Amino acid sequence: MTITTCIFDAYGTLFDVNAAARDVAAEPGQEQLAALWPDLARDWRRKQLEYSWLRTISGRFIDFWEVTQDSLDWAMDAHGLHDAAMRARLLAVYKELPAYPEVPEMLRALKDEGKTVAILSNGSKAMLQAAVRSADIGEYLDDVLSVDEVHLYKPHMRVYDLVTDLFDVPQSEVMFVSSNGWDAAGAAGYGFATVWVNRAGEPQDRLWSSPHRILHDLTTIPELA
Ligand code: LAC
Repeated sequence: MTITTCIFDAYGTLFDVNAAARDVAAEPGQEQLAALWPDLARDWRRKQLEYSWLRTISGRFIDFWEVTQDSLDWAMDAHGLHDAAMRARLLAVYKELPAYPEVPEMLRALKDEGKTVAILSNGSKAMLQAAVRSADIGEYLDDVLSVDEVHLYKPHMRVYDLVTDLFDVPQSEVMFVSSNGWDAAGAAGYGFATVWVNRAGEPQDRLWSSPHRILHDLTTIPELA
């Protein structure tokens, strides 16, 4: 089946989710953060995902920006970081995360091939719009889909429906790309042709479905679509 539609996860897939902690740690006066930023970034991300799933399971949705703040507060507490100015800097940089270097060229190639290209993310609409703007990739995207529309987080199947509903395509025509193993399992189980971008060299998740392809970055995505 021909792929007509290429859908990307946002955080960790198109946008460098560790950049906030890494970049703020490099700023003058941030020695405390510089000593432990990889641990803070890891715990921030882990709690952010846990909170999103817990809120979906319990039917207590709040948007991903609020989840991102709650999880940062937990992670800063866990590492003994009690610094309101640092918190504000981390959140400000998180709002403007850079894209991975290969992203603009890869998206341009997909558009040149006539594919429909969009983001499907747990991020709130406002967060995603800010990130797309700051990474300057809006011209390559046909749409930016947020879970704000359904008040559930991936990998709930209703979220993947947003793609097939909006673009009116069968699952088999959709290539879904995510750096999150759990998202790749969700999308593969839904019926999308799924690529897991395993940047970190992690073991494969043992979940209900497996990705169809595993890559180390996004460079060769246009060859698969
Ligand atoms: C996203 C995060 C969870 O959906 O990676 O963009």
